[in-house]
Formats: sequence, structure tokens, C-alpha cells
Amino acid sequence: MSAEDNPNLHHLRVSYELGELNDDDAPASPIELFEGWLQDALFHKLPEPNAMTLATTGHDGTPNVRTVLLKGVDHRGFCFFTNFHSHKGKELETHPRAALCFLWTTRQRQVVVRGEVCKLPRGDAERYFALRPYGNQIGAWASNQSEVIPNRDWLEARAEGFRQRFPEGQPVPCPDNWGGYALRPDEIEFWQGRRSRLHDRLRYRLQDGVWTRERLSP
Ligand SMILES: Cc1cc2nc3c(=O)[nH]c(=O)nc-3n(C[C@H](O)[C@H](O)[C@H](O)COP(=O)(O)O)c2cc1C
Repeated sequence: MSAEDNPNLHHLRVSYELGELNDDDAPASPIELFEGWLQDALFHKLPEPNAMTLATTGHDGTPNVRTVLLKGVDHRGFCFFTNFHSHKGKELETHPRAALCFLWTTRQRQVVVRGEVCKLPRGDAERYFALRPYGNQIGAWASNQSEVIPNRDWLEARAEGFRQRFPEGQPVPCPDNWGGYALRPDEIEFWQGRRSRLHDRLRYRLQDGVWTRERLSP
């Protein structure tokens, strides 16, 4: 199906007129700008404002993407939690560079982050795991994430097995293969949609420990 074959898609477009990203308003630190945009997404009650696309490189060089949830931004970088034995976990083991993309559609904004990824200390995983709802904790035990399984019933039975092993109301330990990663940014690009596709794009790059900023053509 080409775009021409489908008039609904062909004519589907939005004129971006909500905001501007001016050089004079942009702070020296991209983290400060990111936090401002995240606060804005929270303030406007966007659905899943902390959802981000995580791109990794597969063993054969093929890019791979999926959504994960941002659970914090600090001196270590953009933090998220997952199963270390998942596809993404194995890919990050081999290629520890990755990219993130936040899309805040109704704010007409996108942020792309690139950098080196490293595992967070075990203590971070244990602290965050303890805060998760019981069902999610059991889910983490039950799921050998990214592995092929026979069917849905098999998964439900496995979850039931872990519910019996770790009854509700008692602390559920954090699985060894579950934990956090931090992507330490060396490049962050902010995109604000503008009229007639003349969007604003500001790219920050970390050079010798200092963030430099440049404007990209839309
Ligand atoms: C909105 C949303 C949030 C998600 N958050 C996470 C997350 O924080 N951690 C995670 O491991 N998977 C999360 N997932 C599931 C992943 O997208 C993905 O299916 C899973 O991690 C397996 O990816 P992989 O096989 O590439 O390793 C989320 C999916 C969606 C749609």
C-alpha cells in the first residue's frame, strides 16, 4: 500500500503552531531543558509522559526499538528498568550505546538522546523493585522477557507458581536478572514543531565535558 493509495493517510497532517524553541530561551544545560519539557508533559497530563523509545543495535547490526519507561534522570543519565536477559539486555551487553526518543505529540515536541549505557547498581534495582505493585513484581519473576513461550496459559501458570512462592503481603525479592540501566547522554536534540515544517531543532553535544549547542535545519 503506497501513501497515494490511501487518501486518509495522504491527507493526514497537522500544522504545528503551539510553541517555539528560541536560542535565547534555551538554557546552557540540555538536562534543564529536558526537565522543563518533562514537567510540561506532566502538567498537561499527557498519556505515559515518561514513555520513550529505546533503540539498540542488534548483534548483526540491525537496529531494534521498543518502548520503556523513564524512571529518573540524574548525574548517571536517563534511567530505566528491565530484564537483563531480554533482547535489549543482550544487545546492550554487546553494543553499550543506545538512543532514546520521547514523543509528546500534543505538545508538538520530540527529544532524542544518544549516549553510553551502563547498568545501575543492584541497590537501585532493589529499591525500585520494592516500590512496584505486587502483580508487577510477580510479572517480573514470571517473564523470561523476550523468550518464546508455548502459550498464554503457560505464562499464567508460571505467574501462579510465583504467587504461591512469594505470597502477597510479604516482600518479594528482586530477581537477579532484573535491574536498571542509565544512558549517559552525550547528545540531546530538542524538536519543537513550527508552521510550514520550519521546525525548531536545537542539538546539544557534550565536548570535553562542556555542552555546546547548535541549530539544525528542520
Ligand atoms: C508504554 C510502554 C512501557 C513499557 N515500559 C517498559 C519498561 O519500562 N521496561 C521493560 O522492560 N519493558 C517495557 N515495555 C515493554 C517493551 O516495549 C518490550 O516489549 C520489552 O521490554 C521487550 O523488549 P526486547 O525484547 O526488545 O528486550 C513497555 C512497553 C510499553 C508499550
